[in-house]
Amino acid sequence: MLRRLRLTTAGESHGPAVIAILEGLPAGLGVELETLRRDLARRQGGHGRGGRMRIEQDLGEVMSGIRLGETIASPVAIRIPNKDHGNWSEAMALEAPEPDADDRALRRVHLPRPGHADLAGMLKYDRGDARDILERASARETAARVAAGALARSFLAEWGVEVDSHVVRIGPVEARPEPDQLQPGFRAEADKDPVRCLDSVGSRAMVQAIDDARRAGDSLGGVFEIVASGLPVGLGSHVSWETRLGGRVAGAIMSIHAMKGVEIGMGFGVASVRGSAVHDEFDLDRTKTRTGGYSRRRNNAGGLEGGMTTGEPLIARAAMKPLSSLRRPLASVNTRTGEPAKAIQERSDVCAVPAAAVVGEAVLCLLLADVWIEKFGGDSMGEMRCNVDSYLQRLATSIPGK
Ligand SMILES: Cc1cc2nc3c(=O)[nH]c(=O)nc-3n(C[C@H](O)[C@H](O)[C@H](O)COP(=O)(O)O)c2cc1C
Repeated sequence: MLRRLRLTTAGESHGPAVIAILEGLPAGLGVELETLRRDLARRQGGHGRGGRMRIEQDLGEVMSGIRLGETIASPVAIRIPNKDHGNWSEAMALEAPEPDADDRALRRVHLPRPGHADLAGMLKYDRGDARDILERASARETAARVAAGALARSFLAEWGVEVDSHVVRIGPVEARPEPDQLQPGFRAEADKDPVRCLDSVGSRAMVQAIDDARRAGDSLGGVFEIVASGLPVGLGSHVSWETRLGGRVAGAIMSIHAMKGVEIGMGFGVASVRGSAVHDEFDLDRTKTRTGGYSRRRNNAGGLEGGMTTGEPLIARAAMKPLSSLRRPLASVNTRTGEPAKAIQERSDVCAVPAAAVVGEAVLCLLLADVWIEKFGGDSMGEMRCNVDSYLQRLATSIPGK
């Protein structure tokens, strides 16, 4: 998915820390650590989160790659300690346990939870204890992606690109559509709301739906929308299946835990109407530099045509399934005895759609930074700036092919 940037994450949910190593950012990018701290805090918020979020207050410790406030082109390593690890040191120890060690103290799991990686992972990796799977499958990993994504966000901001998100559905409750195009930076407004929804009436109903699900020992999913604005025409490419940006955007979002669907622009709505109701007609508009001097009468395409950015906002929506760990556990099988049983109960959120939207921003920031580096190249921000300026100037002043 990433071609020029490389992101490796490591760490288990109750291990000592989760870690991100991001390589490929040019030298000379100014980084404010506050951006990183803020995005990590945003991932922890939202009505419907569980007790774990009250324990953890994520602080990313940057270990390398930044000096005196700027990137120096070397890999940036970020460590996010898991405060909860203190309560799990025996279960997560590196050393082999005593032969008579108590399963409960080691928090072994033989009752896999439907909807999680537990059972498929046990079978694939030949592990008798589902904890060997679920510790890594946990969405705690997304803290590392958000930390790396904050650096990508800083990079994109240098070029006038903003990536925002808001929640448009929680369970059965849908937000009323926004009357106008959302202004870049609208995530700050969404952050003020308990479910990151821009419609205050919808938000109240969403909070209610989450509280109802909590009382019933159940969980809820939903839909969030991500908007990237300020992108110039021509990122991505039509020439190969793996360079088409739509596929990369969908892949990046689908890589987030619990995502079950992605729409771009009008999305699934295109399937039920005629072409004239879908495609965005062009006009010449010399004031619009980033679109190459053309405007579109609407943006049903969601900012992508032929696998390339059009210069209009890139709009993607993601459907998140209801969380799989339920306070009233689902039917499972004890993998030791083969007997029917209820799945194990792990501490869990009731709804994490607001947090997932922040993770969605992060992975889109990483992907767009990658595509930007692919197009404009350069080892330093200064070198890249020359390339960007020359491209934008050509878009503003010349007719294609002349
Ligand atoms: C930000 C975020 C927080 C999550 N928190 C929980 C949680 O508390 N409980 C839970 O059962 N699943 C949670 N999930 C979803 C699971 O991690 C996910 O469903 C599971 O790993 C199985 O992967 P899959 O749904 O992609 O198949 C969360 C996902 C995200 C993105």
